Amino acid sequence: MSTYHIKHLEEYFHVYRKSVRDAETFWAEIAEEHFLWRKKWQQVLSWDFTKPEVKWFEGAQLNITENCIDRHLTSRPHKTAILFEPNDPKDDAQHITYKQLYERVNKFANVLKERGIKKGDRVCIYLPMIPELAVSVLACARIGAIHSVVFAGFSATALATRINDSSCKMVITSDGSYRGAKTIDLKGIVDEALNECKSVESVLVAQRIHSDITMKDGRDTWLQPLLDAASTICEPEVMDAEDPLFILYTSGSTGQPKGMVHTTAGYMVYAAYTFKNVFQYQEDDVYWCTADIGWITGHSYIVYGPLANGATTVMFEGVPSYPDFGRFWQLVAKHKVNQFYTAPTAIRALAKQGLEVVEPYDLSSLKVLGTVGEPINEEAWHWYNDNIGKKKSPIVDTWWQTETGGIMISPIPFSTPTKPTYATLPMPGIQPALMNENGQEIKGNQVEGRLCIKFPWPSMARTIWGNHQRYKDTYFSAFENKYFTGDGALRDEVGYYRITGRVDDVIIVSGHNLGTAPIEDAINEHPAVAESAIVGFPHDIKGNALYGYVTFKDTGESRDHTNVRTEINQLITERIGPIAKLDKIQFTKGLPKTRSGKIMRRILRKIAHKDTSNLGDTSTLLNPEVVQSIIDNAL
Ligand code: WT7
Repeated sequence: MSTYHIKHLEEYFHVYRKSVRDAETFWAEIAEEHFLWRKKWQQVLSWDFTKPEVKWFEGAQLNITENCIDRHLTSRPHKTAILFEPNDPKDDAQHITYKQLYERVNKFANVLKERGIKKGDRVCIYLPMIPELAVSVLACARIGAIHSVVFAGFSATALATRINDSSCKMVITSDGSYRGAKTIDLKGIVDEALNECKSVESVLVAQRIHSDITMKDGRDTWLQPLLDAASTICEPEVMDAEDPLFILYTSGSTGQPKGMVHTTAGYMVYAAYTFKNVFQYQEDDVYWCTADIGWITGHSYIVYGPLANGATTVMFEGVPSYPDFGRFWQLVAKHKVNQFYTAPTAIRALAKQGLEVVEPYDLSSLKVLGTVGEPINEEAWHWYNDNIGKKKSPIVDTWWQTETGGIMISPIPFSTPTKPTYATLPMPGIQPALMNENGQEIKGNQVEGRLCIKFPWPSMARTIWGNHQRYKDTYFSAFENKYFTGDGALRDEVGYYRITGRVDDVIIVSGHNLGTAPIEDAINEHPAVAESAIVGFPHDIKGNALYGYVTFKDTGESRDHTNVRTEINQLITERIGPIAKLDKIQFTKGLPKTRSGKIMRRILRKIAHKDTSNLGDTSTLLNPEVVQSIIDNAL
């Protein structure tokens, strides 16, 4: 029996039981046998969910890049580590071997050091999906700088908020990016953001689209000449197990985005372990995750997890629709991809195109298909299974979160029988619990409740940057001694989990986690707007789309609704990014409120879902009369 690599269902149950019975021995064995340590730990785990404080492998020392790169130099130096596929299909793919990756990361790390970046400094990375993105992430990790990757679709305001929250000293960006047939002026967005950011001393600029940009004297430097001059040798910084590795921002239901802090050893062990098992990666396989490295999926399952296993990981710069909707399948055939990992929203968009864009391509290399980001509906699951996997590639519906660092509930392909829309069984080491509204655990099968995790796992986020109290309040206060995920779930008759969706005010649109508060804040900046409330409603492709209820200030003037709608979406694009634009905007006289003044989103959600048969008792509202008028004018 191998604990590290599970190959059949019996083995899974055996390993799972062991991971619960004796978690410390379980993780210590995995850590010991499969990773490179500069110094071993004194204690595998110490934890206290009331503080909350969790430490894994305390006393150990390591560098994650030695595990992801250096140790492969003897066993597989000329194997492709990163297979870069550019936006334009006419441009050649680049195969970056482990040896080349080693040299590129070291050069980049030396450039960071020359620019004054030291262990513990925060570096913001705002780059498109080009090799420099993966290389800069690893270069930070090499010298112990904390990377904070911001998805390059976020606006200048959103970028500035994130840079300031963790006082980043440097920003790494590019002159621009390609997105299908369009280009985006990334450097211009950075320039605008930096008007608001005092902590940033320098900006490194990669050249990608050769656009004409302005470089600010004393602050901005072109990256390539610095890399050309740098040495290919950079001794890795020796890190403590619990030293922060990165910060990654995620939206909450209220307030500013939360800078989730992930630490070094536990994150590495868990990302690598889950990659191996969930994708059943074999030495000569080519693995492709279509996410952006700006999200946790890219951190754990494009960069760290695959590289820690010596895998070949594809990095795709483009979009699924360029030059046509066959691009994903063309690339699967071209690179003989064995494991393919994407989001339900992409599957739905591609399924809509019909099979003409799938059929020309040979997809026989595929062994495992994955999905992540939101619940996958049954129709999309079957389309994926029938037409992409040809019913022979198991689908791993992987449930996890930015906060969890790695996949928490997922089938293990070829071991766990799959079931459409079910994430199925917890990974070894993961102990889920379903809770009722009175805070009690619901035992047994065929039950539904709020999904919590009752025991620590190695890759859990340790805190929110600069705000430990918020970490405690958000995740450890709803249910005593448990991590609360914010999701609802049900457990079927055999113990399989199905995630039913968020139970808080976070809305998942095209797999992007959007908090309602920052969007409402953006809308409320409009001079004519008094108040607003956002809810989600079902959308064929995006899963959910956003429905905004907006009230005007009472100035007696009449308003041009079309203009205000456009202006509201412009504000949202500026403050957050185009992903947060509203699909529907309804102007109302008022928003339904409780007597304490809380907006009753439950009612607004039902109206947006066109489900007004049972709104519950609205008579206790502060303003029950607005409900009917909202229903009458619903979009
Ligand atoms: C939220 C976390 C983990 C990387 C991408 C999203 C939803 C995620 C699934 C799934 C149903 C899912 C949850 C979760 N979610 N995967 N397989 N089935 N829902 O990371 O942005 O932190 O969002 O995404 O609601 O809480 P994230």
